[in-house]
Amino acid sequence: MTGFSPECGKNRSESSAVDLSSFGIREGISETIISTGLESPNAAPIGIIVKGGRTFVRLFKGTHTWANVSKEKHLASNIVYDPLLFVRSTFFDLEPSEFDYVPVHGLSFPILKTASAWVVFECTDLKNTDHALVADLTPIKAGFNEANWKSLPVPNRGFNAVLEATVHATRYQLTGEEKYLELIRHYESLASKCGGENEKKAMKLLYEVLGL
Ligand SMILES: Cc1cc2nc3c(=O)[nH]c(=O)nc-3n(C[C@H](O)[C@H](O)[C@H](O)COP(=O)(O)O)c2cc1C
Repeated sequence: MTGFSPECGKNRSESSAVDLSSFGIREGISETIISTGLESPNAAPIGIIVKGGRTFVRLFKGTHTWANVSKEKHLASNIVYDPLLFVRSTFFDLEPSEFDYVPVHGLSFPILKTASAWVVFECTDLKNTDHALVADLTPIKAGFNEANWKSLPVPNRGFNAVLEATVHATRYQLTGEEKYLELIRHYESLASKCGGENEKKAMKLLYEVLGL
């Protein structure tokens, strides 16, 4: 079941005056999975930054997300609580069947089927630095999957540990610095102590990716 079409009666979407906080995106950095790509859908974890009333992303050059946003100037932020999906979308391409499409600004925009909620943003005022693209975000359409939204997990240190380990894994891949391996091992023990089955699967996959 695709889960997001308003016709099925279990899902809601709104297109004007989207209140970001009611979709869980608040002051600070919200770790969501960003979907982009009108021709070929892509997903990757990216922080949505809300600071001093401004909402923006910082996208490192060379990623698919960076290329898609530079070209298409739209992105969707998917609120996801699945640690395995965070690891998979960091290091691998997701299956096309994992995406749904919502009509917005005359586009058919990809979102993730398993998201609890999603917000499509228009990206404006794009600024390139040496290493990154910074883009301001204006929410244009949002929705939530009522079934997923009703079963939100409570904070879990194991889930957070997977996020931390995955961030350090991307840094390790970039730099090869030993300090990141130590951090990854630290967060792995936390994930295995506090996490459930999905956190353990996520860490196993992360270790495989790094050849540990
Ligand atoms: C929790 C988390 C947050 C991340 N935040 C960002 C971010 O804000 N900006 C960014 O460019 N990359 C971020 N990354 C790294 C990207 O997800 C990673 O480079 C990914 O491989 C890019 O995939 P893509 O080429 O499909 O876009 C983050 C990774 C994780 C695990």
